[in-house]
Amino acid sequence: MDFWLSLGFKSNPYIVKPLPGNEDGRELLVGRDAELRSLLRRMRESDMHVVLEGPNGVGKTSLVLVAAWVASEEFRSGDSQQLYLPLLEPLQVKEDSEEFVSACYFAIARAFLEYEDTLKRAGRSVPRIKDLRLWLDSPILRTRGGGITSPFGGLTGSASASANSSQGYTQAGFRAAVRRWLSDAFPDGSGGFVGLIDNLELIDISSAAQGVMEEVRDPVLQLPGTRWVICGARGIARSVAATPRLNGVLSDPIDISPVPDEFIPHLIDARLKRYAVRGDAVAPVSAKTFEHIYEVSHQNLRDSLSYAQDFSFSLDPEFFLQSNEARIENAAKEWLAELAMKYERDIRLQPRMWKLLDDLAGIGGSCSPGDHLVLGFNDRTHMRKNVVDLERYGLVTSSREETDQRRRSIEITSKGWLVHYSRSQGLINPTIPGVDPQ
Ligand SMILES: Nc1ncnc2c1ncn2[C@@H]1O[C@H](COP(=O)(O)OP(=O)(O)O)[C@@H](O)[C@H]1O
Ligand SMILES: [Mg+2]
Repeated sequence: MDFWLSLGFKSNPYIVKPLPGNEDGRELLVGRDAELRSLLRRMRESDMHVVLEGPNGVGKTSLVLVAAWVASEEFRSGDSQQLYLPLLEPLQVKEDSEEFVSACYFAIARAFLEYEDTLKRAGRSVPRIKDLRLWLDSPILRTRGGGITSPFGGLTGSASASANSSQGYTQAGFRAAVRRWLSDAFPDGSGGFVGLIDNLELIDISSAAQGVMEEVRDPVLQLPGTRWVICGARGIARSVAATPRLNGVLSDPIDISPVPDEFIPHLIDARLKRYAVRGDAVAPVSAKTFEHIYEVSHQNLRDSLSYAQDFSFSLDPEFFLQSNEARIENAAKEWLAELAMKYERDIRLQPRMWKLLDDLAGIGGSCSPGDHLVLGFNDRTHMRKNVVDLERYGLVTSSREETDQRRRSIEITSKGWLVHYSRSQGLINPTIPGVDPQ
């Protein structure tokens, strides 16, 4: 029998994917009411695109997907006059800005297809579907915008080869058409498509990320009828939003902090309830146990969920079915401690490097290259050398050749937090003092 089903769940309740933009996602999004309101307000009332800055795994993508869906629902129910409709999937920013721009236009064209009925019902102008399909089938889009590799590739291939290779199907022609469709469908202030430009930190160096965003400013960020939400971690979104050329185009970043501890039990219970198919379902990781994991992982939701899964699979369903809550909780805590100790044992570091890890944890887990004095180094190069060593063991991540010295581009990883846990609790060596060696 399936693992989860035997425990009484329809599927994995600790799934680490972002929450979907639908009713389920809305119900499972816990502890984000203020952020949701603020995001919706800015999306609707400001003419600048919203920027979200926050560590990986805190819940940025989930928040945006749910917010965009809520916006579309509020139009449907008549609570809002502005028609906002989410693009079908998040866009990942690419270093090749031309390719990225194409992906954005392609996503908009696909959204017009998807929402044809919705737009018509709202009395909005829609492009002729036949034209749209011809464009989506044209070779120019198939090579650039990702038409062929797109999971929605089924839409292509309906038009004849002669039609889509005919004169006039050019990149520029397509973009002009998309721009026209947008301004026809969404006259000033009446809404638009909401697109998520996600994971800006994948372009690791802030000057490069700034460059790409500057290049997409005119073709993408200035398009009518579109609201972009731009997300990044490790200070990159903040860095990009501060670019003079994007002034007035991007908002001041909203900081997304970890979901506060007091919401965590409810957050997990909501999932367990949603996924349970029996009244007596047995959760390998209860709300209470999850609180412990969340604390150890330094309030990283994605990491915590992924530990919850790993622990679940480390034992047979029979163990959970035959044990009481206290026994399961102990097993989970032991499992996490074992993992932490295993990580710590495998690491050979000089005392100075250990101290850097401890000190970095002590100041919250992230710093910028310019913080060397705070961390007890006379110069940046010296700190850099130590950071590189921690990075080799996967205890921190950092950006190379960072140009923005204030950017908090050095950050403890989930493995780093586990090792820190092992050290600060003295799990292996009780004589090692934790955070503040005297
Ligand atoms: N407010 C929330 N309530 C419940 N689960 C959440 C919430 N925010 C995020 N999650 C879950 O946490 C994990 C990480 O969220 P995600 O949105 O992918 O983070 P980010 O984009 O910041 O890296 C996902 O599994 C997601 O379902
Ligand atoms: Mg994300």
